Amino acid sequence: MEVVIVAGPDQAGELVGGAVAALVSTKPDAVLGLATGSTPLAVYRDLARRHGAGELSLARARAFLLDEYVGLPTGHPQSYRSFIAHELEAHVDFASAAVQGPDVHADDLLAACDAYEAAIRAAGGVDLQLLGIGTDGHIGFNEPGSSLASRTRIKTLTDQTRRDNARFFATLDEVPRHVVTQGVGTILEARHLVLLASGAAKAGAVAAAVEGPVTAMVPGSALQLHPHATVVVDEPAASRLRLAGYYRETWSHKPPWQGL
Ligand code: PGA
Repeated sequence: MEVVIVAGPDQAGELVGGAVAALVSTKPDAVLGLATGSTPLAVYRDLARRHGAGELSLARARAFLLDEYVGLPTGHPQSYRSFIAHELEAHVDFASAAVQGPDVHADDLLAACDAYEAAIRAAGGVDLQLLGIGTDGHIGFNEPGSSLASRTRIKTLTDQTRRDNARFFATLDEVPRHVVTQGVGTILEARHLVLLASGAAKAGAVAAAVEGPVTAMVPGSALQLHPHATVVVDEPAASRLRLAGYYRETWSHKPPWQGL
């Protein structure tokens, strides 16, 4: 696992946006895995800037959302489908229908989860998966206790996650209790995992995921099982990493041609 400690969101966005741009330049029909929440916004801003500058085209790329709320009406501004449409698709040139999320309005939700897995497989799998991490250690919406082999399925949010996400809704009661999320096993099949975290509230989850034991109690720790995982954190989020000095030294001596 590579841990990169950055000064702030702009540096994180530029670094990870650069990795996406490098991928798409060698593989224009790359498959991206998209995360929502506050943290990936810096990456989406960077992709929009690169597109605006004529440096990046996603016209042949495809993308899959990591997770989605269950129970919000179609087009609800806090649905992750709307979030990605607003924060990313509106600013780049994805083809229509190139970005997919799980069909949380299907009558048969279990079949929709299986269909989502099949769609990811049919696209050839995810090349680069963006991830955030919850204060409780979740990736996607795989809450503590999620099987490390889990696939796309329905999950119930913890109270902690619902409280963390209440800032996007008028009241806590409006935060859905149920979600569909790619499983930990699904996420681990992506070819490159890039987890971003910022702020002191994430320091404990980052330390547990990066340096703690691999355990279903910290789903983010599953990154330790992946051969190509990158963790990009700001100083406050890195503040509980025991090997922070080593990560800084490694990064400062990394050959520039190597990329993420
Ligand atoms: P955040 O969410 O980026 O809004 O902090 C991260 C997550 O819950 O995965």
